[in-house]
Amino acid sequence: MRTTVGIVGGGPAGLLLARLLHRAGVDCVVLESRDHGYVEARQRAGILEQGTVDALRACGAGARMDREGLLHHGIELRFEGRAHRVDFPALTGGRSVMVYAQTEVVKDLIALQLTDGPPLLFGAEVLAIEGPDSAAPAIRFRHEGREQTLHCDFVAGCDGFHGVARRAVPARLTTVYERVYPYSWLGVLADVAPSCEELIYARHRRGFALHSMRSPLVSRLYLQVAADTDPAGWSDERIWDELSARFAVDGDWALERGPITAKSVTPMRSFVQEPMRHGRLFLAGDAAHIVPPTGAKGLNLAVTDVITLARALALHHETGSTELLDGYSETCLRRVWQAERFSYFMTDTLHPHPDRSPFEERLRLAQLERIADSPTASAELAENYVGLPLI
Ligand code: FAD
Ligand code: DHB
Repeated sequence: MRTTVGIVGGGPAGLLLARLLHRAGVDCVVLESRDHGYVEARQRAGILEQGTVDALRACGAGARMDREGLLHHGIELRFEGRAHRVDFPALTGGRSVMVYAQTEVVKDLIALQLTDGPPLLFGAEVLAIEGPDSAAPAIRFRHEGREQTLHCDFVAGCDGFHGVARRAVPARLTTVYERVYPYSWLGVLADVAPSCEELIYARHRRGFALHSMRSPLVSRLYLQVAADTDPAGWSDERIWDELSARFAVDGDWALERGPITAKSVTPMRSFVQEPMRHGRLFLAGDAAHIVPPTGAKGLNLAVTDVITLARALALHHETGSTELLDGYSETCLRRVWQAERFSYFMTDTLHPHPDRSPFEERLRLAQLERIADSPTASAELAENYVGLPLI
């Protein structure tokens, strides 16, 4: 088998890259190790930046998002019983975000790909990327019980943190930056109307909590828990009690309860592998970097990586120029590090932890008070949350 760009991984990064390349007239094949049902059901992110929304619309994947997505113009910060709203359009010159789940983005991209797209193989596990720094790289994969090889001009490593692509770069040529946080998130989906119109990020002595949503009838909620937490140890009643305690605020607001339909624990990590290119292998999305979820940046960063990569591959296809390909890693990493900085800031400020001294904890509260009291400090949060402009 032969193609121009072999794409390893059919998550949001790989699927969007395939659409962008297809529209630019560049051949590609997507190899995804899991089956169709599994990929569509995987619960993950929920917030799309304006740039992500624009990219999905531009590649024809925006129709259902525009019907069902919820446009959000702000978030609420809660701490010490106070609530403070951050007004995005007022602080960013009119920008907002869209609440539309990653599961739905993935479903929309897969549907397009299967009706009008380059090949997408489910159940195709990539075993190795051979000769990434040669003129003729190859991807070895297993599909329907048979080992096969995909020969290509370029390889896009879009296979996430646990994939094979980033390991195909020799360790002596890479620098890894990593921080593992001493807590995780317990995330639940519940069949109950959200108790708020906008997301609530709450810092409480008992721990962080986040109230998000999937639709006018489905809530998505997260609790900070110890890193080694087994979700089975958290009964539904315990989860609702803990959420209610952490969201408590002066006034008569109450958290509505309903049946919990899914429960899982997500570890928290910051990770960057530099550079994001090795010869003809280009890493994109979680294959190259992870952010802790507090800033809602993971999915959005994957999207900006593949927009940058698709532009570079399209230019090469049209003119033979490698200029954008040569700048790919540096261009992406500038933005990646801004997202790493913001995600670290949100995580560190909003999650209390017993390893810190009372002085350090009090400083985090002072930071939140500063955001609540100063339009300049609020604007810094808002600009990063809605997404920095694509360079
Ligand atoms: P992925 O979505 O990981 O996709 C990689 C794909 O490659 C997968 O489909 C995988 O099956 C496939 N693959 C892996 N290995 C191989 C192989 N050898 N051969 C072929 N295919 C392979 N972000 C937020 O902003 N908010 C959140 O609440 C949030 N929650 C998250 C919860 C979890 C458990 C995880 C893991 C991530 C979460 N994220 C969140 C981050 C966000 O979901 C990711 O940043 C986003 O999925 C990145 O997309 P991606 O396409 O780069 O990687
Ligand atoms: C969601 C997840 C996040 O990490 C976040 O910061 C906001 C929303 C969500 O899953 O809806």
